[in-house]
Amino acid sequence: MTSARQPTNGHPTNATAAAWWRDAVIYECHLPSFRDGNGDGIGDLEGLTASLDYLASTLGIDAIWTGPFYRSPLLDQGFDVSDYYEVEPTFGSMATFDRLLSEAHRRGLRILVDYIPNHTSDAHPWFVESRSARASARRDWYVWRDPGPEGGVPNNWTSEAGGSVWEWDEQTGQYYLHSHLAEQPDLNLRCPEALEAMLDVLRFWLGRGADGVRIDVAHMLMKDPDFRDNPVAPSGNDNAYDLQHPDFGTQLHVHDRRHRDTHDVLARIRAVADEFPDRVTIAEIEAMSWEDWATYYGGGALDGMHLPFPFRLLETPWRADTLRSELEGLYSALPRGAWPITALGNHDRVRLASRLGAQQARVAAVLLLTIAATPCLLYGDELGMVDQPVPLERQRDYFARSTGGVTRDPTRTPMPWNDGANAGFSTAAEPDLWLPVAANAAARNVEAQLRDPESSLSLYRSLLRTRSSSPALRGGELAFVGETGDPDVLAYERRAGHHRVLVALNLTADPAHVRVPASGSVLVTTGRRTDSSLVGGEDLRLQADEAIVIDLETGATT
Ligand code: GLC
Ligand code: CA
Repeated sequence: MTSARQPTNGHPTNATAAAWWRDAVIYECHLPSFRDGNGDGIGDLEGLTASLDYLASTLGIDAIWTGPFYRSPLLDQGFDVSDYYEVEPTFGSMATFDRLLSEAHRRGLRILVDYIPNHTSDAHPWFVESRSARASARRDWYVWRDPGPEGGVPNNWTSEAGGSVWEWDEQTGQYYLHSHLAEQPDLNLRCPEALEAMLDVLRFWLGRGADGVRIDVAHMLMKDPDFRDNPVAPSGNDNAYDLQHPDFGTQLHVHDRRHRDTHDVLARIRAVADEFPDRVTIAEIEAMSWEDWATYYGGGALDGMHLPFPFRLLETPWRADTLRSELEGLYSALPRGAWPITALGNHDRVRLASRLGAQQARVAAVLLLTIAATPCLLYGDELGMVDQPVPLERQRDYFARSTGGVTRDPTRTPMPWNDGANAGFSTAAEPDLWLPVAANAAARNVEAQLRDPESSLSLYRSLLRTRSSSPALRGGELAFVGETGDPDVLAYERRAGHHRVLVALNLTADPAHVRVPASGSVLVTTGRRTDSSLVGGEDLRLQADEAIVIDLETGATT
C-alpha cells in the first residue's frame, strides 16, 4: 500500500476537534417534497417534525438541512423570499418552526436552515420600495443600471434560468439585475445597509436556535463592480449533470460572480455565525478548480465558510481514475485544519440513481459515507429514488416554465413513505399534490424497504450505524491504496489510532480481483457474502457492483 497524498489534516486539530459538524451526517429534506403535515398536498414543517423519529432513529442522521420556508411566492421553491422574518404559511408558522427545533434538539438532531443573501423575491418590500423611484431610499439595495451605450441591456451576462440577467423597469427607466428568475432581483451587497440588513436576518435565525445555515449561491454574492462582459465560452461550458438553462453555458461566468470581494462578505457572514456557539456555515458554491474551492474556507485563518460544497464531485465521471484524482485534488487543496463536506446529489441535479443506475448508486452510498468528509444526503437517495418525469401541466419549477430551461422537478418528487394513498406523503387529493409521487412508489418506499434486508434503505442504515461506531470512518485519516491491480476498483484505508478500515469499490458490473490487505471482518457490503470474515491477506475478490467495508485486523489488543 502506498500512502498516497494523505490529507494533511486527517486528524482534527485541537481548535476544531469539538466541532460537531465534522462528525455529522447531514440530510437535505427539501421541505415541499418531504411530508405534508396538514393535508394541503405540500410538504411542511409539521410534516418534517412528524418525520424526526425516522431521521434520528430509523436512519440515523445528525442534522437536517430544511430547505427554505420563509414567506415566498414560491416561484423557485422558496428561494424567492418576500419576508425573511416570517414563515411562509404554506410551510407553517413561527410556532411550528420552534416546535421543529425543540423536537429535533430533544432527539439530538440539529437543524440547518437556508440563508439566501444573493437575491430576494420581487415581491419583497425592499424591492418594491427600490423600484418605486430612482430617488427611493432603498434604490441602491438592488443592482440598477442604465441601458448599454447602444441601448439595450447593460452587458451580456446570462442568467442561470435563461436569457439576460437584466430586466427593464419601465417606470424608472433602468434595468435591474437578476442572476436567476426575473422575479428574483439580486441584492446589492456592496450597499452597506443592504448587507447589514441581510446579516441581521442571519442573526435572527441563529438567535432563534438554528444550528447553522446553508448559504445559497455563496459564490455569487459579489459581481464585477465594472460590469464587464463575460467572455464567450469557446465550446460551451455546460456539464451533463447540471440542470442549468442552455443559455447559461454560452459564456464563461467570470464577471457575474466570484469577484474577490465575495470573500469579504463571507467573512462578515462567518463573523455573525461566530456570535453564536457551535453554529456551522455551509456554502453552496459552484464547481470550480480545487484551488479556488479551497479559498472559500477563508485562507490560513479559516475565517470563511466551515464547509464549502465541492460540486466538482457531482460532475466527476464515475470511474476509479477520475474519482481518485478528483479526491486527491480535494484533499491536497484542503487548507490545514479544514474539513470537507461531500454530496453526490442535491435538489438541483439529476438523482444519483438516475445518473449511475441502481447498483452503482449503492456503491456511491458507500463512497459517500466512508470518505473523510461530512456527508450530505438528499432525501430519497437512501431509497434509491430515480428521476420521475413530471408532465408539463404539473411542473413547479419556473426555471423551466418561464424560458424553456430544464426542469428540476423530476428530482424533487415526494418522499414515498408507504404503499398507501400518495405514498403516505399527503392526505390531499392527488391533483393537489405539490408534485406527483413516483410511479414506482408502491414498491420503492420507506416501509417496504425496511422489511427488505437487501434494500437501499437497509444498506444506508447499516452504513450509518457502522460509521457512527467507527472512529476510523468518522474522523480518521484517509490514504488511497496505490495500486489495486484493477483500474476499475477504487480502494482506500481510513485510520484512527489502531482502528483501520479498508474500503474497496468495484465501479463496474464485472467481478474484480484486487491485491489489497484485506484480512478482517466485513462490516458492510453491497454484495452477497455468506462469510463475514476474510482471511488470507492480500487477495480480495469483489463481486459485480460490490462495495465493501472491512474492519482490518491490526493485531492490537486494545
Ligand atoms: C441555488 C438553489 C437553487 C435555486 C437557486 C436560486 O442554486 O440550490 O435551487 O434555484 O439557488 O436561489
Ligand atoms: Ca402542507
